Amino acid sequence: MAKKKGKAREKAKARLKVSYSPEQQVILARLTSDVTEHLADKPRRLAHSLSVAKTAERLALMYGVDPFLARAAGLLHDWEKACSASEQLAHARELGIDLGVELELVHSVLHGMIAARVLPSRYPELPPSVWHAVAVHTSAAADMGPLDEVIFVADGIEPLRPDTPGIERLRSLVGEVSLDDLFWESFVGGIIYVLEGGRYLYPGTIDVYNSLAARRAERARD
Ligand SMILES: [Fe+2]
Ligand SMILES: [Fe+2]
Repeated sequence: MAKKKGKAREKAKARLKVSYSPEQQVILARLTSDVTEHLADKPRRLAHSLSVAKTAERLALMYGVDPFLARAAGLLHDWEKACSASEQLAHARELGIDLGVELELVHSVLHGMIAARVLPSRYPELPPSVWHAVAVHTSAAADMGPLDEVIFVADGIEPLRPDTPGIERLRSLVGEVSLDDLFWESFVGGIIYVLEGGRYLYPGTIDVYNSLAARRAERARD
């Protein structure tokens, strides 16, 4: 019995093995080296970024998403975090980012949107889907695709995050529930965290929540 279980685990692991083309390997090596240099003064942020990249790659393999794009988006998702909060605010204003409220109130969601506007010219070899995933990793969006969901979830559960009951629960759901459900749990958990901490909730989050909730209810009816 134990032997059988061991074999099943080996099989599952083998399925999760990833292989990249030589071109993809070159790109990933460049991204890793660039992010390592860019976040050199923020070692914890760098470790988190590398960990999100690995976690996103693993989730992508489990859920049938492109692991190369997941790894690339994971590496770059917190690029703008090399800058201070006031620099991020200044960049957001320069880029004309308008979220309908004072940007100071929603400063924590800005870095993904900024990176998604700044990085495409630096990495034209990466497709728009990577930049969409980077843009919505903080705020989520009504049009979350599988790559977006993988990055959002990986950001929340990567192993360097402290083992809170909510995060441990999410980790235990990996591979047990659909990617949509995993994202939903992660997204709702994030809202509860904001509310419980008495923090300001970005009004756009309520719209996203309602769009997703309506879609889920519709799907449940079908
Ligand atoms: Fe982030
Ligand atoms: Fe992050």
